[in-house]
Amino acid sequence: MKKITISGLQKKKAAGEKITMLTAYDASFAKMFDEQNVDILLIGDSLGMVLQGEDDTLPVTVDDIAYHTRAVRKGTQRAFVVADMPFMSYPTPVAAYENAAKIMAAGASMVKIEGGTWLAETISGLVERSVPVCGHLGLTPQSVHVIGGFKVQGREEDKAAKLLADAKALEAAGAQMLVLECVPTSLAKTVSEALSIPVIGIGAGAQTDGQVLVMHDMFGISANYMPKFSKNFLVETGDMRKAVQKYIEDVQSGAFPGPEHSFE
Ligand code: KIV
Ligand code: NA
Repeated sequence: MKKITISGLQKKKAAGEKITMLTAYDASFAKMFDEQNVDILLIGDSLGMVLQGEDDTLPVTVDDIAYHTRAVRKGTQRAFVVADMPFMSYPTPVAAYENAAKIMAAGASMVKIEGGTWLAETISGLVERSVPVCGHLGLTPQSVHVIGGFKVQGREEDKAAKLLADAKALEAAGAQMLVLECVPTSLAKTVSEALSIPVIGIGAGAQTDGQVLVMHDMFGISANYMPKFSKNFLVETGDMRKAVQKYIEDVQSGAFPGPEHSFE
């Protein structure tokens, strides 16, 4: 079995092959997703909502992420493992280094941080210190109280231009992957084409280099509600492994996400 690496993901983008990503928080689901050949497993701070029952991701700690990363790592042989840096774990570059060290030591192969150009110094510092970084733009849930709700981002022309500039700044700083959440399909396409690093979308249309879903949404068991951009793949397949296979197939064929899961 060939392990997925960042260079392998880069090659997929270059070849126009879609990348599949799911969140995972424990060894059992990680093992199952890994065996179904999901490319990337994300220990998302969404665990605050789907595991802990919180209203948002803000209460999640570095120790929470490290705990779940250790479990996911144990269940994973092939997939690339990315873990979120939680709220306020990267307010300064030095704080980011200290907290990223704990998350990498727990078994992540890359950390994900939310934000634009202001993170350039943090990203280049992390990469210089051997911590690979994934950016996260668009709807950044750690900023929910600044934004004023979970809303689509980048609809206005000036906001779209800023998002594109932020994406380029993150890549220039050394980010090796980018997640785009809840942005119009056309903007996500523009960003994916403008960057050479893989761009993974959620609520960002089908023209990104790959897709990510929160596993609880994909199985239709989320504690709160089903976001518009998500899809319950279990209801049509009746089996968890088949649901994962259908998700992978539909991402690879471009059938998911459809216009009904996207924003324009
Ligand atoms: O926390 C999470 O699960 C995420 C994905 C939705 C991208 O950040
Ligand atoms: Na997250």
